[in-house]
Amino acid sequence: MELKIIEAKNKKAKPAGALGFGKYFTDHMFVMEYGDGEWRNARIQPYEPFSLDPSTAVFHYAQAIFEGTKAYKNKEGEIRLFRPRENFLRLNNSADRVCIPPVDVDFVLDALSKLVLMEKDWIPSDEGTALYIRPSIIATDSALGVHAAHNYIFFIILSPVGAYYAHGLEPVGLYVEQEYVRASKGGTGHHKVAGNYAASLKAGEKAIQMGYDQVMWLDSKEHKYVEEVGSMNIFFVLGGKVVTPMLGGSILPGITRKSVIELLKSEGMEVEERLVPIKEVIDGIKDGTCTEIFGTGTAAVISPVGKVGYEGKDYIVGGGKMGEISRFTYDRVTGIQTGKIEDKFGWVTRIDR
Ligand SMILES: Cc1ncc(COP(=O)(O)O)c(C=O)c1O
Repeated sequence: MELKIIEAKNKKAKPAGALGFGKYFTDHMFVMEYGDGEWRNARIQPYEPFSLDPSTAVFHYAQAIFEGTKAYKNKEGEIRLFRPRENFLRLNNSADRVCIPPVDVDFVLDALSKLVLMEKDWIPSDEGTALYIRPSIIATDSALGVHAAHNYIFFIILSPVGAYYAHGLEPVGLYVEQEYVRASKGGTGHHKVAGNYAASLKAGEKAIQMGYDQVMWLDSKEHKYVEEVGSMNIFFVLGGKVVTPMLGGSILPGITRKSVIELLKSEGMEVEERLVPIKEVIDGIKDGTCTEIFGTGTAAVISPVGKVGYEGKDYIVGGGKMGEISRFTYDRVTGIQTGKIEDKFGWVTRIDR
């Protein structure tokens, strides 16, 4: 398929000051449509709104999936993508779960590189900043009725971002949710399906009102085992070992999670993927054997957890400070992403040469 490029005539002013997360969008976006059994009309075009009929399928039945990855620019102007193929492979897995036709991974990877290079002046280079990349697919049939659509739009938009949490690398507080669940086995929690996030909002709002940053989700059946956090996977340092909930069909298989496991193992550390009872975590914080908790995700990178709210009580982890393993992991992952540290894993793709 040919990739058409339509340049924006009017360029926007770049944001000055703090970027925050997902507030600004660049001048161009990638778009292609699916119809008559094929993806077509691939183009990089000016960033602009879609005009969709009120009956459009995605508005009613939430047949929508998305991804999140980042492009990094360092002070030398080198531009890198972090494991972008993994994102498009996961996108196709999500697509399969909600009956969306798959995309050609090599084609969209190439289109993404071209788009990011066109927008290279939008990529911030200060520590902790990046160009967030949001690929999405939505169902666009304009008719009511619950069935898989025949028409879709795939688009990629780009947003220069700073830290995901307003307080940067300061440890976050998590609220262990015992009433609502995010996902159950056999559902869509294992995939990046838009509806998962709608289902998480109620508990998320509750956590924020109570003074926490995000929810720590438990399993849907017994409310006993830790699953993940709003937009991060979760790791514990328990009895000197790094432990993370095993992927059991209701947890999003995070690309940062997978990278952190590979990284720590390559450093000779033991990493256990297993069921993690919330009771073990709380007991560990109480008796000092749970020394660190950190979340992993594209948006939040490595986010230390300083406080866990469980059954009406707050438990402070590691003195409320970022722990040694969290700091080591943060430095290594961000070092590889920005080219400061040699990438012996082959995770980054340099696209500026
Ligand atoms: C629910 C959820 N869990 C975990 C993650 C972390 O995944 P990744 O490391 O691929 O960004 C995300 C973010 O994509 C997420 O939305």
